[in-house]
Amino acid sequence: MIANVDPNTIVYLNGDYTRLADAKVSVLDRGFIFGDGIYDVVPAYKGQAFRMDEHLGRLERSLKLIGLEVNYTRQDWEKLVLDMLARVSQGQDCMVYLHVTRGAAKRDHAFPANTTPTVFCMVTPFERPSVAREKGLTAISIPDVRWLMCHIKSISLLGNVLARQQAVDAGVDEVIQFRDGYMTEGSSTNIWVVKDGVLLAPPRDNLILEGIRYRLLEELAAKAGIPFEARPISEAEVEAADELLLTSATKEVLPILQYNGKPVGTGQLGPVYQALRAGYDQILDQLEG
Ligand code: PDD
Repeated sequence: MIANVDPNTIVYLNGDYTRLADAKVSVLDRGFIFGDGIYDVVPAYKGQAFRMDEHLGRLERSLKLIGLEVNYTRQDWEKLVLDMLARVSQGQDCMVYLHVTRGAAKRDHAFPANTTPTVFCMVTPFERPSVAREKGLTAISIPDVRWLMCHIKSISLLGNVLARQQAVDAGVDEVIQFRDGYMTEGSSTNIWVVKDGVLLAPPRDNLILEGIRYRLLEELAAKAGIPFEARPISEAEVEAADELLLTSATKEVLPILQYNGKPVGTGQLGPVYQALRAGYDQILDQLEG
């Protein structure tokens, strides 16, 4: 038994829909041995997938970037997500977790020949942020010690796990990582800076995972008439921000109101956050309506 997990929930593994407790993977699976695989997380509201095309596009890009060929077309991925939602979601808000590894093989770092990839999918309940929307979050800065291919949604997440634990140990909600004096991202979120009414984010390069909310926030900013710039952002600029925001599939868009123990800007919800939040809610209302 695994704490807080329903053993009877249905998961997908290599073509079969099965109870979680019955889903088994070889100890020689390269996901287990090497962390050799990729994943994605698609949010679903009232059982309806949100931005599924974008998430599946990123899943396919991640597969390509690690040279992992898997016999699933875009239609197969879509069908998998929709089937899992139909079987498990019960019309609730949830997350669809998709995971692909290079499969089981004799332990050898090089790619194995003739190995079938492992494909796994589970749906887990998801509670939309509520209190944090008004109360805001806290964050601290830490050095980014991860590898240089953070644009791949790799299952090798040790750097992100250690980063997240630093937040927990410090009693804050998230870390903001810096490499060579410039902001990269959170442990599992993208970070946004607002200065003089302009929304800033780091460039979409190999140093961050481009969240599906990256383009979404750009769209919402454009709609709200908020100028947007993607460029390197220094530690000093983060310190002097009028507003700090974070985004992810599970956090949606939330304000960071305390950074390194000090209030961000006025310490209150800022106008850019409020405009983007309203835009995000409006899109979700349309989805549900
Ligand atoms: N994390 N950066 C990192 C390192 C992430 O792990 C995530 C998402 C994001 C935001 O991406 P998106 O907007 O597509 O959720 C940025 C997911 C939710 C996770 O690992 O559970």
